Amino acid sequence: MKHLLKLLDLSKEEIIDILNLADQLKYENKNGIEHPVLKGKTLGMIFQKSSTRTRVSFETGIYQLGGQALFLSNRDLQIGRGEPVQDTARVLSRYIDCIMIRTFEQKEVEDLAQYGSIPIINGLTDFCHPCQVLADLMTIREYKGRFDGLKMCYIGDGNNMANSLIVGGLKVGMSVSIACPEDYRPNPEVLAFAEQYGDKFFMTDKPLEAAKGADVLFTDVWTSMGEEAETEKRKVAFAGYQINDEVMAVANEGAMVQHCLPAHREEEITEKVFEAHANEIFDEAENRLHAQKAVMVRVMNGKHNK
Ligand code: CP
Ligand code: NVA
Repeated sequence: MKHLLKLLDLSKEEIIDILNLADQLKYENKNGIEHPVLKGKTLGMIFQKSSTRTRVSFETGIYQLGGQALFLSNRDLQIGRGEPVQDTARVLSRYIDCIMIRTFEQKEVEDLAQYGSIPIINGLTDFCHPCQVLADLMTIREYKGRFDGLKMCYIGDGNNMANSLIVGGLKVGMSVSIACPEDYRPNPEVLAFAEQYGDKFFMTDKPLEAAKGADVLFTDVWTSMGEEAETEKRKVAFAGYQINDEVMAVANEGAMVQHCLPAHREEEITEKVFEAHANEIFDEAENRLHAQKAVMVRVMNGKHNK
């Protein structure tokens, strides 16, 4: 695997390989077994949007692998003053070993990969959030022990999270349902991908229909980063698109709840459901660290048990 630009690019086998390595790295981390397989490597982290989890988990992760991270804020880089991404990619390729970028347009990430000569990892765009969904899949497998036969349900905005969950969930063998308002559906490319899976994919505008028989329920904020001007309009559009007791009542017994965080209690999820599933949600957040370490090892060719 050369880059992680979007889950659409990965095969099921590549996804499972990352999850297996992530499990191994988590075990080693918990048991004090050091694994400096990326010794001497430098990860550049470009952030054009805020972050708590992505920044800290990547920075800690590369350190645990024996490398180091450079935090490159949009406010400080020349990219923020209009230097083309093509030039930034070619310059950074001469200094560092990998770039993780969080930005708006997916094209910017794809351009970095095209013009640079080092691996690029997508740390979230408006189109997708592959690192998050690898951690989500890792958490589901930890709790449920399998993917086959499970139903994943997403309620809310057809945004970056929805796009990646649909692709990731279907690729590993789950069935996927989504409830979103008609005007906030997932990306057409993702819907075209999902169509190939026939009745393993189901989209509706009714949360209770989507949640029926679900084994794992996801939601995300009603207003993503960059959409703040639409907050009030979105509050109206998404009213009712919430994980709450009624939704949990139609899901399967023992259904998990996942949230990429940050969460807005009483908007997309009630405080009660959030707190009842807090362990799963914070395990999910922790797994960002392990899953991303696996991604970094694979794209930077760190030899690890292979
Ligand atoms: N879930 C997630 O990506 O969190 P941050 O925005 O804090 O990185
Ligand atoms: N959909 C959210 C995810 C944050 C991790 C956003 O893009 O802001």
